[in-house]
Amino acid sequence: MKADILKLLLQSHADGDESSFRKAALQLAAAESGAGHVRVADEIRAIIAKMPPASTRKAGPIVDIASPRGELADILEGGHRDERLRDIVLRDEVRDLLLRVISENRSRGRLERFGVSPRRRLLFHGAPGCGKTLAAAVLAGEMGLPLMTVRFDALFSRFLGATAVQLRAIFAEMPRRPGIYLFDEFDSVAKARGDSQDVGEMNRVVTAFLQLVDADVSGSILVAATNHVDLLDRAVFRRFDVIVPFEKPTRDQLVDLLKLRLGTIGLTEAQAAQLASRAEGWSFADVARACDDAVRTMALDDREEVTERDVVHALEELKRRELPAGR
Ligand SMILES: Nc1ncnc2c1ncn2[C@@H]1O[C@H](COP(=O)(O)OP(=O)(O)O)[C@@H](O)[C@H]1O
Ligand SMILES: [Mg+2]
Repeated sequence: MKADILKLLLQSHADGDESSFRKAALQLAAAESGAGHVRVADEIRAIIAKMPPASTRKAGPIVDIASPRGELADILEGGHRDERLRDIVLRDEVRDLLLRVISENRSRGRLERFGVSPRRRLLFHGAPGCGKTLAAAVLAGEMGLPLMTVRFDALFSRFLGATAVQLRAIFAEMPRRPGIYLFDEFDSVAKARGDSQDVGEMNRVVTAFLQLVDADVSGSILVAATNHVDLLDRAVFRRFDVIVPFEKPTRDQLVDLLKLRLGTIGLTEAQAAQLASRAEGWSFADVARACDDAVRTMALDDREEVTERDVVHALEELKRRELPAGR
């Protein structure tokens, strides 16, 4: 009788079936109680009472593939993305390149029949706030894959001694969970490498990373993003199939961004052009923030349309409060 309960307990745990696990545990308590072991039964019930409430998620093969668990949860953030190519302003060449990478990966089987594989190791570089992280989300959204962001900062600061081991765990995850693996702020590898403190450790980490990149035959897409491409050495570059520059926006691109953000709530082409010249030299991210502020003002004023003045005001506020002098 008790053996049956124990088997049930183990089986439900193995299946991740919380409600059966709880039921089996209660049966165990009842069995102990029936055998006169009242204290043991009470202790078991006390443990059950402290268990977190059973989730409503059905047990079974359906697991949320986008959210890593256990130790990986600290260094890998996962999620499905809604961003699409229409949400990002890109130079035509860059858009074409991303579209090409998407099609190659969609047609993987066909490519492989001819002995070639899709390019799937991408290096995004450029000034901050120019769309590197967003572009990775767009790839994920377009391909219907989760975006798995590797948190390099956490990887290094928290697990310095075990960084290479953690990296290996991430690469081991790649074939298991197809996705877009974003090694964001990738420059921290190179930067940390130059630090005197733990050069030996960092060199091992960089070497391990490059070896893992080389050895990776998963179908997952690997995106490394950096603001400091100059810090990376040739050995790093060679590992990537596609190098994508993200540059500060041109005036026309700012117009496109303003239209993208505010075109449906009343901003005209002429107004967008006017505003773009005020924001020259700003990053996409700064202007996107100003757009959001303008929308907030509009909403608070109970209007349905944004005015040029809302945006000018937002730009000036941002410049005054947030941006370093000279911008
Ligand atoms: N090229 C772009 N097109 C449209 N929006 C952009 C672009 N670049 C940046 N943004 C806006 O700025 C935000 C921050 O950009 P992000 O992709 O994080 O920049 P980076 O990773 O290059 O530092 C984005 O979420 C988006 O709102
Ligand atoms: Mg970024």
